[in-house]
Amino acid sequence: MSTISIQGLTKRYPRVTALEGLSVEVPEGVCGLVGANGAGKSTLIKILLGLTPATSGTATVLGDDIHTAATAIRRNIGYMPEHDCLPPDASAAEFVMHLARMSGLPVDAARQRTADTLRHVGMYEERYRPMGGYSTGMKQRVKLAQALVHDPRMVFLDEPTNGLDPTGRDEMLDLIRKVHTRFGISVLVTSHLLGELERTSDHVVVIDGGRLLRSESTGNLTSQTHTLVLEVLDPAGGTDATETARKALAERDLSPRASGDLLYVPVTGPDTFDLIRDTVSAQGLGLVRLQRDRHRIAEIFGEPAAREGSAGDGDDH
Ligand SMILES: Nc1ncnc2c1ncn2[C@@H]1O[C@H](COP(=O)(O)OP(=O)(O)OP(=O)(O)O)[C@@H](O)[C@H]1O
Ligand SMILES: [Mg+2]
Repeated sequence: MSTISIQGLTKRYPRVTALEGLSVEVPEGVCGLVGANGAGKSTLIKILLGLTPATSGTATVLGDDIHTAATAIRRNIGYMPEHDCLPPDASAAEFVMHLARMSGLPVDAARQRTADTLRHVGMYEERYRPMGGYSTGMKQRVKLAQALVHDPRMVFLDEPTNGLDPTGRDEMLDLIRKVHTRFGISVLVTSHLLGELERTSDHVVVIDGGRLLRSESTGNLTSQTHTLVLEVLDPAGGTDATETARKALAERDLSPRASGDLLYVPVTGPDTFDLIRDTVSAQGLGLVRLQRDRHRIAEIFGEPAAREGSAGDGDDH
């Protein structure tokens, strides 16, 4: 079942079109919304929450229409905004408690929920310190806690890993995963890094220039984007080395695709790399290079610079 259903959503600002006829279904679970800077991620989230109107098109969130039921949507959804929204003089406990009360919880319940959510995000010990003195990682955790405090059915997290170092990033991604596995809350989480959402999300929606590029289960996306690229040469000076390697790899059911001097082979399992190396060497050919194909992920993604982090291991064999 879809949590969010979007049909032909368009958002025009005077100078830019932020969303252009976007239609997509977001399934239950953790869904990553990926796109380069300016792709329209935050705009989409704000429209879904009724914080800014769409120019045209429509959408439902947990069955509620954005045009007619924005209040119900905001009751059901917890929202972690992209930018810092924490008053520096308030403590995490005061701030989260305040938002819990604003959402309508009675004092005792609000106090209990505040303690629970701050404990859940790992901010229990530090909860009485003024937030002005918090690190970026601590602030991101408090922002996550305030999104969870009113016991929402789903949360929208806008760039929750922004500004975090690799360790902080991993911890935040684990926390996000747990929001779903422990509490059964569906998550829509944005990032400009495809790689970090690949491991956290069940499903990934990729947008570029306000248009839908891909909407795919993470398993599908990973198998399609994880391709090895190799280049071979014949030490004896033969000129058909690439074609020889291609045939040999095809005989091992590796589905190679030739493009000039390069061969592209989809990764089908943990032994694909070894299989390629052994097959090529059995033909008496030399391997000039064999590595993860960066280009195809960048193509899906739309912006090479934003690719950082998605190659991870297995990159520099
Ligand atoms: N209030 C606004 N007025 C005018 N243009 C806007 C406004 N908000 C966003 N835009 C423009 O709409 C486009 C999409 O912006 P948006 O913030 O949704 O992108 P994003 O994917 O969240 O980017 P980022 O990764 O930088 O957060 C951009 O070109 C942006 O400049
Ligand atoms: Mg944004």
